[in-house]
Amino acid sequence: MARSREKLASVRIDDSIAFVGIDVVGKSVNTLSTPMVERFEEILETVIVDETVKGVVIHSEKPDNFVVGFDIEELQGYYEDPDALRELVARGHALMEKFTSLDLPVVAAIHGQCLGGGLELALACDSRIASNADKTKFGVPEIMLGLIPGGGGTQRLPRLIDLSAALDLILTGRQIDAGRANRLGLVDDVVHPGILLEVAAETARELGGNDHRSTSYSQNIGEVFQDPVKLAARTPARGMVFNRARQETIKKSGGHYPAPLRAIDVIETGFSEGFDAGMRAEAEAFVELVQSDVARNLMNIFFMRQEVNSDSVVDGRTRPFNVKKVGVLGAGLMGAGIAQVAAFNGYNVRLKDRDTDGLGWGLNYIKDLFDKLARRKKLTEAQADVYFGRVSGTTGYEGFKSSDLVVEAVFESLELKRQILSDIEALGNEDLIFASNTSTIPISDIAKKAKRPENVLGMHFFSPVYKMPLLEIIRTKETSRKALATALKVGRDMGKTCIVVDDGPGFFTSRVIGAYINEAGWILQEGGRIEDIDGAMRDFGFPVGPLKLVDEVGIDVGQKAAGVLQESFSDRWDAPTALAALAEEGRKGRKNKRGFYDYAGSDSNQPDESVYDVLPGGRDRRRVDRELVQQRCWLAMLNECAYALEEGIIRSPRDGDIGVIFGLGFPPFRGGIFRHADDIGLENIVEHMTRLAEQFGQRLAPADILIEKATEGSTFY
Ligand code: NAI
Repeated sequence: MARSREKLASVRIDDSIAFVGIDVVGKSVNTLSTPMVERFEEILETVIVDETVKGVVIHSEKPDNFVVGFDIEELQGYYEDPDALRELVARGHALMEKFTSLDLPVVAAIHGQCLGGGLELALACDSRIASNADKTKFGVPEIMLGLIPGGGGTQRLPRLIDLSAALDLILTGRQIDAGRANRLGLVDDVVHPGILLEVAAETARELGGNDHRSTSYSQNIGEVFQDPVKLAARTPARGMVFNRARQETIKKSGGHYPAPLRAIDVIETGFSEGFDAGMRAEAEAFVELVQSDVARNLMNIFFMRQEVNSDSVVDGRTRPFNVKKVGVLGAGLMGAGIAQVAAFNGYNVRLKDRDTDGLGWGLNYIKDLFDKLARRKKLTEAQADVYFGRVSGTTGYEGFKSSDLVVEAVFESLELKRQILSDIEALGNEDLIFASNTSTIPISDIAKKAKRPENVLGMHFFSPVYKMPLLEIIRTKETSRKALATALKVGRDMGKTCIVVDDGPGFFTSRVIGAYINEAGWILQEGGRIEDIDGAMRDFGFPVGPLKLVDEVGIDVGQKAAGVLQESFSDRWDAPTALAALAEEGRKGRKNKRGFYDYAGSDSNQPDESVYDVLPGGRDRRRVDRELVQQRCWLAMLNECAYALEEGIIRSPRDGDIGVIFGLGFPPFRGGIFRHADDIGLENIVEHMTRLAEQFGQRLAPADILIEKATEGSTFY
């Protein structure tokens, strides 16, 4: 539907300054789009001919947002139309150039997020004034979508600020606040939001009073703009900077993400061949990247995540409880982690452990995390103190009755968890919601003897809690809508992407990761080497290999989970003895420095050969084919996802994909596990799995839903 142009940007002339107010009416944030480009072209035409206008201020009419970037939905439409996209990019470049070369000073007045194309627009202005509000942020996040900045950002940014700083912003997509932007020279002034427009107008007048080309902008950029020699003189060590950036990028991306290397190439072209050549290289690379499968997958994930984050799940009439105070039971790694994130996001937290040692450990852990945030300037010292002050500790149940939600993260024991639930119910708060952070025990087992099972559900966080974006919320048949809506609200307020799953052994994520690790265990048992197995899965795109993961989680913990899964799915689950043998030997992984890797030595990435002594074949290992390892492990994972979908544990392939990507580290460039299966073709997959099952065990035989879909010729999406 075509938007009326006035609903994109309006112009108001006041005291010889044209204020261009961006406002994509009907949307909470401003994005750029083809209609917006047209609207800007139109505005520039009228402003140029108005002789009373002496300067231009570009700002946003939204209360807390400047421009978040180019409309990704429109971009997706160019996936199969490179010519149309090439035209659009050229038009965008021309528009930016018009802003830059306009015979009037143009100042961007920035309050709220100024990202991607929004920042590129600001970069094309003569000066940038930012508000000092917390919500004012700068960044070029295109890399996270598998793209590079396409509106001149790859050229203007490294000319305005230091090359290393520009590379960092472009290659990480990181967002910075106004203070940092000012220190980098990205903005010229930082002021209170209340006087932002006034200061911007004043700046425009000052620039217009002089020859406006003699501004800090032209001093910094203008003369080095077209002249590679001058640019080179400003950055003498740039060869080294580019080389280092390339090395780090290759290490980080594992060669799976083309955009970062392209970005470096494009920036370097601008440095060696001049601005115009750089812009041409940017356009070409941008168009190519939008056509790539990686960008398509990353953009899809972006939308799926948005959908999941705004999915009401329960009907719209059910109102969540207004949770102010969260109780957390167990101050271990998970409990303390949950308490810290809750406090960070505004909740008062009551934290209990069984003794003062446990409690002390947890409180220290939380304090350390806040101190670290203050050291990294993400919080002021005062904020860190206030946040930490929201957590109070105890070894009894005082203060729990007045909690609105209690999350338990005590040891993984059904008896203990039942006992804890009964203690909490005995406090007599009938509305109190009880959430378990268990990783494997069915919630309905925990709630079996509950007085109010409707108040019980699972909130399964991932470790480390402050970092991992996923929260798996588990509902039983008895969980009330209100309890579910409340858990969703709290999870989202804690900044998590929440998937809601049905109850069952290992819910969704634990059984899926269990199947994956199980297969890795089989390969090890059959004679494979630790480094070959982990290396193959890292090459596939996982951040760590399955055996290293077990070391991190704990071999003992993994074994407990494996036991639950083996018992629950005994008709098809088949666990290798290898992992159990290691657990029996007292190996717990990193925590007791005895795992698959050698934690006693200097290099914890070195496999511990003594592991093989308890395995069939001993130290006489054999090479396993990298691709075969990958096929077996990811297909075992897919199969479990398929069973979970078939059984209704997950509500959709979308939820499954969000779960494996944000909770289990499934490589995002593949778009998700169901998406990846669709891409390969389900018929191929079923055929392949049938062969693997004959060779390695029936656990790899495809789930019915895979067979059905393959037969029908249908897909998950
Ligand atoms: P942990 O062993 O670090 O912490 C458990 C804490 O609970 C200990 O501090 C212990 O003193 C305390 N505790 C035991 N009995 C208690 C009682 N009666 N009252 C109060 N506190 C008591 O264990 P972790 O790793 O934090 O795990 C806790 C739960 O979270 C388990 O159910 C686990 O399966 C689950 N989980 C663990 C994950 C992980 O990566 N470690 C990930 C997701 C879930």
